[in-house]
Amino acid sequence: MSVLIRGGTIVNEDGSSLADLRVRGGRIAEIASHLAPAASERVIDAGGCLVMPGGIDPHTHLDYPFMATRTADDFLSGTSAALAGGTTAILDFIFPESGQSLRDAYAEWRRRAHPSVADYGFHIAVTRWDDQTESELLDLVEREGVTSFKHFMAYKGGTMVGDDVLIKSFEFAAKLGVLCLVHAENGDLVQYLQQKFVTEGKLGPEFHPLSRPPEVEGEAVNRAICIAESVGARLYVVHNSCIPAIDALRRGKVRGVDVTGEVLACHLAISDEVYRNPDWAFAAAHIMSPPFRPPEHQQALWAALASGVIETTGTDHAGFKAADRLLGRAKFTDIPNGTGSIEDRLHVLWHLGVNSGRLTPEQFVRATSSAAARAFGLHPRKGVLAEGSDADIVIWDPAGTRTIRAADQHQRTDFNLFEGMRVRGINRMTISRGNVVFEEGKLCAREGRGEYLPRSANPRVA
Ligand code: URP
Ligand code: ZN
Ligand code: ZN
Repeated sequence: MSVLIRGGTIVNEDGSSLADLRVRGGRIAEIASHLAPAASERVIDAGGCLVMPGGIDPHTHLDYPFMATRTADDFLSGTSAALAGGTTAILDFIFPESGQSLRDAYAEWRRRAHPSVADYGFHIAVTRWDDQTESELLDLVEREGVTSFKHFMAYKGGTMVGDDVLIKSFEFAAKLGVLCLVHAENGDLVQYLQQKFVTEGKLGPEFHPLSRPPEVEGEAVNRAICIAESVGARLYVVHNSCIPAIDALRRGKVRGVDVTGEVLACHLAISDEVYRNPDWAFAAAHIMSPPFRPPEHQQALWAALASGVIETTGTDHAGFKAADRLLGRAKFTDIPNGTGSIEDRLHVLWHLGVNSGRLTPEQFVRATSSAAARAFGLHPRKGVLAEGSDADIVIWDPAGTRTIRAADQHQRTDFNLFEGMRVRGINRMTISRGNVVFEEGKLCAREGRGEYLPRSANPRVA
């Protein structure tokens, strides 16, 4: 179907202009100051609106078995929520089970993702290193386009790996031109602090942030950067939440390390006071790692995002239902870790970022789409409005308002981190590869329409 979007302001990370945009065959066919409608073409009036690249969320956990339960959203509900919020592509994580081959794990996650309504790709979690690991990783990189390896420096006894595995995996990734991701917290220190609090009878959710203080994160970010620097790997640090992490990123960049930082919408918006709420269920609904931080850290995160020390935003969408949080009623260490905001990232970023003057619309596009597309090998297919790119588009009304409420959301969590936030700047329409998939508050996306996104590695030329 051919679509003509007329009269809007086209916003890319490098500039904005009043122009018309034509979509044909799922791609952007033309952008010009005036385009005449063709016969039988759908014409969309974008007057007064901004026309921007669809959001890319590089960090989601859909249909993920974790901490004795499973995340609330599967790929159908999670990607439906993504489209409603203006996100047209996600990158999720494959977690091999103990003893499972990486190929079998990949096949299992492709099966889970099949109902997706948005486009999706995968990172592979490196949770062990044995004789088969190199050949299995190579197979996923070369045959399936899984070109980013994820490493957990925390969750000891679970997905955590030690420095020995980080070094081997980073070195192998550097050879292949694969991007290394890290969840950076010092897992030994977290375990020590958790055990200390539990022994002292400090069992409530208010002890979760105290068991994972900012130094625990800053040390691990710095360590990951030093390892990447030593073996020449490209590094991506997920969910930076605090000043020590930002400082480590800045120092690494100054030394010339190829490191990209991500911040989550929720870490920009929410402070640690949520853990001191006397309502256990409310505090427990905010348990995630790294935890929410005191307000000075949010100020620093906004500044880092505006200045480019942090380049991407994600959600780490891993919401759990209230009933699942009860697993940790007796002690905070058993509360499943993770929160969900796949539907709200763009609205929260615009409202708190652009309306306040912290970000320009162009910086918003960079932070919600273009930077992730570049980091993960999707650019210029995605992350930019240009002739030949996929027609993944949001039509954004900067004057529209709505109130975020769990009761209205598409994501399946029975809680919303931003409940009651009245946002100015709303998504009027989402277009994915040329198809209108969200319009006037309604989803119109066929189950399974999402496409798998194989990506290329970026080997260094010798
Ligand atoms: O608490 C979190 N972030 N849960 C999801 C898994 C992870 O650490 O990214
Ligand atoms: Zn994490
Ligand atoms: Zn995560």
